Amino acid sequence: MTYHHNLWDIHIGTPHPFNDKAPAIDHGAGRPTPERFHSRSYAEAEWNRVFARSWLLACTVSDVRETGDFARFDIGPESFIVVRAEDGSLKAHYNVCPHRGSRLVLADTGSISQFTCPFHSWQFALDGQNIAVTDHQTFRPEVLCHDHNLTPLRCEEAAGLVFVSMDAGIAPLKEWLAPILPQLELYDIASMNVVQHRRSDWGANWKGGVDAFAETYHLHAVHPQTQCLMDDRTQIDLYPGGFSRQFVPFAQPSPRFPDQQSVNAGIEIMLKDAGIDPAGFQGSAQDSRAAVQQAKRQRAARLGLGWDKFSDTQLSDSTIYSLFPNVQIGCHPEAVFLHRFVPHATDPNQFTYDTCILYRHIEGADLAAPAWMGLAADLDMTGDTRPDIVRTALGEPPGLGEVLDQDSELLPIVQAGARSRGFRGPLWSEQEARLRHFHAELDRRMAAG
Ligand SMILES: [Fe+2]
Repeated sequence: MTYHHNLWDIHIGTPHPFNDKAPAIDHGAGRPTPERFHSRSYAEAEWNRVFARSWLLACTVSDVRETGDFARFDIGPESFIVVRAEDGSLKAHYNVCPHRGSRLVLADTGSISQFTCPFHSWQFALDGQNIAVTDHQTFRPEVLCHDHNLTPLRCEEAAGLVFVSMDAGIAPLKEWLAPILPQLELYDIASMNVVQHRRSDWGANWKGGVDAFAETYHLHAVHPQTQCLMDDRTQIDLYPGGFSRQFVPFAQPSPRFPDQQSVNAGIEIMLKDAGIDPAGFQGSAQDSRAAVQQAKRQRAARLGLGWDKFSDTQLSDSTIYSLFPNVQIGCHPEAVFLHRFVPHATDPNQFTYDTCILYRHIEGADLAAPAWMGLAADLDMTGDTRPDIVRTALGEPPGLGEVLDQDSELLPIVQAGARSRGFRGPLWSEQEARLRHFHAELDRRMAAG
C-alpha cells in the first residue's frame, strides 16, 4: 500500500497500530548557527547543560547481569563504573578513587568482588563503600573523617539498557524514556547479548555523527550500494524530548533505483535471511518485502517466538530510534544495533563512535542476525563469551563494514566545511526532520542555562 505523506510516497505496508504516525511536531524552518559543531565554548556549555543533565546510555543489562559484573563507561572528560551490587541493585560510581583521584577501573567489562585502586590499593565494596585504606594508621583520624567512599551517580535500567545521570535530581529514567519506552520494550533487549562491540575515533563533532545517522537522504550519494535493497523514502515520527523514530523499508529498492523489478543480489540476501530460497522465488523486487514479512512471521510461529506483537514493518524493516542526546538504536526482532556518539573530552572536532550488536541466541532455532549487519562468521553468537571491544584510532579505517566506513570517511569532510567561516548553518529538508527535532531540543536545553 502506498499513501501520500508529507512530500513523498512511503511504502509502509500493512496498517498496524505500531506504525501509526506520531502527532506532528513543527519546529519551523529556521537555520541554526553553526558554532555548535566546532566551538570550544559551545562544547563546554553543552557538557554542563546537556550531558550533565541527561540520562546517558552506559551499557547493556547483559554486561551487568550477575553480582560483581561491571562495565566502564567513558564519555567526554568523565569515566563511570556501572556494577551489579550484592543486593542485586545496579550502582554507578564515578571511576575515581577518593584518595588522589586515580581511575579505579581500567578494564572495559568484567566481574569482581571489590574495587582496588591501582595507585595505593585502597579498596571499595561494590556499593562504593570504602572497605580498606592501606596503612590507615598513618592518616590523622580527622583526614579520614572526610567522605572516602566512591562518588555515586544515578543509575537505572529500562528495556534491557542501563543509563546513568550526573544530575541527582533528574526525573526517573522511565519518565525520560516514556515517549518510546513501550516500543523499545517489545524487543526484549534484556534477553540479548553483545556479540560484537567496536569503538573508533572519528574526526567530527559528535552531532555530525548523530545527524548523519538520523537521515536516509545521503544514502544515494554516500552509500549507492544500498539503493537496490533499501527504500530511502521513509516514515519519520517525532516524540517529545528530542526522541524520534524512522522505518527504513528493507528488501524494497529505493524509488531512485532504476530497476524496480529484478530480484537483485541485495534483495536475495534479505530473502535468504527470512529462510526463502531466492532461486525458487517467483515474485519481483516489488513483492520481496512482503514475502520476507510473511516468511519471518511463519517461521516465528513455528518456533513459538511470540512475534505476533510485531507489525509486518518491524519484521522486515529497520526501525531506528533516536534517544536524546547521543544514542541511536536500530531495532529488529532478531537483533539490535546500538550506536553511541560520544563527545571527546576536549576537542569538539572529534568524537568516538561506539557500536554494539546485541543478539538473542535460541538453541536449535534456524535463526541468525540479519546478514546486512556484517557480523564476522567466527563470532560466538551464543552469548557465552563477551567479546572484547575492538578499537581503532583517528584516521584509521575503522573496519566497520562498507557502509559505516563510508560514513567515517565522509564525516571529517563535512566537519571541515562546517567549521568554515563560509558555512552559515544547516538547511534541512523534511527528510531531515529528525535532525531539526534533535537540534530544537538541544537549543531548548542550551537556552535553559
Ligand atoms: Fe551513512
